[in-house]
Amino acid sequence: MMETTLTINGESITATVEPRTTLADFLREQRRLTGIHLGCEHGVCGACTIMVDGEPVRSCILYAVSCDGAHIQTIEGSDTDPVIVALQASFTAHHGLQCGYCTPAMLFTARDIVTRLPDADEDRVRLELAGNICRCTGYAGIVRAIMAVLHDRRAKNE
Ligand code: FES
Ligand code: FES
Repeated sequence: MMETTLTINGESITATVEPRTTLADFLREQRRLTGIHLGCEHGVCGACTIMVDGEPVRSCILYAVSCDGAHIQTIEGSDTDPVIVALQASFTAHHGLQCGYCTPAMLFTARDIVTRLPDADEDRVRLELAGNICRCTGYAGIVRAIMAVLHDRRAKNE
């Protein structure tokens, strides 16, 4: 067992963790952050994507102990993140979700797109979404939702 200190949604915690425990399992099972979803558990589907030190990462292929000192943001801690809030409203308006299983992770990838690639066009948005599988929507609503936020941010010079 190893001691690990993490800041999770603004709260600093220290926990004792088995070295083989993934970040996803640690956050879901010890911290009850079940907005992190697991699909493939080997880094392919993107359902477990969260933010670590400001970047989207797959939490199923990271060990919790390897994130010692990191700042972690999950969907449960995103109510005060204005980009996530805008994306959630846009996903709702543009039918960017059906069952919602992919949605928390999709929002973090979308957040990365709109903040890192402010000039992205639809083709680039689709390329950037390649690591997040959605089994329901056919992606059209997701792409529309992200493009709407991109247009809005451009109009506001954000
Ligand atoms: Fe992590 Fe599929 S559950 S990428
Ligand atoms: Fe069901 Fe994306 S909304 S998997």
